[in-house]
Amino acid sequence: MRVQVAIIGSGPAGLLLGQLLTNAGIDNVILDRVGKDYILGRVRAGVLEDGTVRLLDEAGASARLHAEGLQHGGFSLAFDGRNHRIDLAGMTGKKVTVYGQTEVTRDLMQERERSGAKTIYEADNVNVHDFGSTSPYTTYEHGGKTRRIDCDFIAGCDGFHGVSRRSVPESAISTYERAYPFGWLGVLAEVPPVANELIYANHARGFALCSMRSMTRSRYYVQCPLDDKVEAWSDERFWDELRRRLPLENAEAVTPGPSFEKSIAPLRSFVAEPMRFGGLFLAGDAAHIVPPTGAKGLNLAASDVHYLFEGLHEYYADRSMAGLDAYSQRALQRVWKAVRFSWSMTMMMHRFPDTGAFGQKIQEAELDYLVHSRAAATALAENYVGLPF
Ligand code: APR
Ligand code: PHB
Repeated sequence: MRVQVAIIGSGPAGLLLGQLLTNAGIDNVILDRVGKDYILGRVRAGVLEDGTVRLLDEAGASARLHAEGLQHGGFSLAFDGRNHRIDLAGMTGKKVTVYGQTEVTRDLMQERERSGAKTIYEADNVNVHDFGSTSPYTTYEHGGKTRRIDCDFIAGCDGFHGVSRRSVPESAISTYERAYPFGWLGVLAEVPPVANELIYANHARGFALCSMRSMTRSRYYVQCPLDDKVEAWSDERFWDELRRRLPLENAEAVTPGPSFEKSIAPLRSFVAEPMRFGGLFLAGDAAHIVPPTGAKGLNLAASDVHYLFEGLHEYYADRSMAGLDAYSQRALQRVWKAVRFSWSMTMMMHRFPDTGAFGQKIQEAELDYLVHSRAAATALAENYVGLPF
């Protein structure tokens, strides 16, 4: 088989790129190691920036998002037993859309099927070859046979554990990493959310986040030790812990109910530089990871895809390499700002085992400054709704 662009990974990054390319008449195939149902079983964050929504509009995959997504013009920072609202709309003129990433993925998959573009699921042993040359190709195994796809370019959208980044010689790549000394225990439950907007809570017992998927489905998180086991967290223990970390008015509004998803995820910041190696381009989690505190993971994948699509489009329309040559630098400029923001939200909202009394006082001063300075709150809001791309 021969295509113009071979895309590795059928997560949001690969699917969004694939749809933009297909709509522009650029022939592409997506390869994924796992099946569709497995991909749709993964629960991830759910806050979309305007720029991400705009790209989904461009991809023609946003009808349900506009019908069902919740527009939020603010969120709450809770500490010291009180809520402090960050007025996103008032300070930036922008809102965010609360809509589950699983649904974004589902919508993109449906649009891809409708447009007849090819996806190969359950492709074993995917490999990328000769991306230093002008004729790269990928191989994979399916039904006991090895197959080959020749292409002009390879888009590595295969997540943090994917094969694309791992195929680059170590000497050609620099990585930057920070692991945080705790995890998030996340719960989904078919109960109404405690409030109309998200609540990020800093509490002596640890961070808590109240989010939602709809007005009848809630998504909650509590900070927990990295070595905690999900089995140690009964629903009862979870609801009790969540309530304890919220201001009284919110704690009283928690509607407990049986959870239908419960998992623990570690928090990490990671960036690989550059994001382009000849004909191989990394996008999304394949190139960078952010802790979920700023809800930036999917939004960063979307801005990467925007820059990469522009470069590919320019190449096929004008035979110009300018956009592709600029891809890594343009993407990384925005990536690092989101990495900084996610790190700073993480530092500000969690209890760290080793900060001591000084660190604690600094954190309290930062929160107090934030809610009493319009300038500081505006800077937070500007990052939360998403820097332009
Ligand atoms: N071969 C083929 N496919 C692979 C391989 C491989 N060796 N390794 C991983 N994949 C696939 C995974 O099965 C997954 O479907 O690549 C896809 C990567 O998807 P995501 O992990 O969702 O990454 P990305 O699309 O960059 O997502 C960006 O969405 O999923 C979230 O946490 C993620 O918030 C981030 C955003
Ligand atoms: C979520 O709804 O899952 C969510 C929302 C905001 C975050 C992280 C996760 O910062």
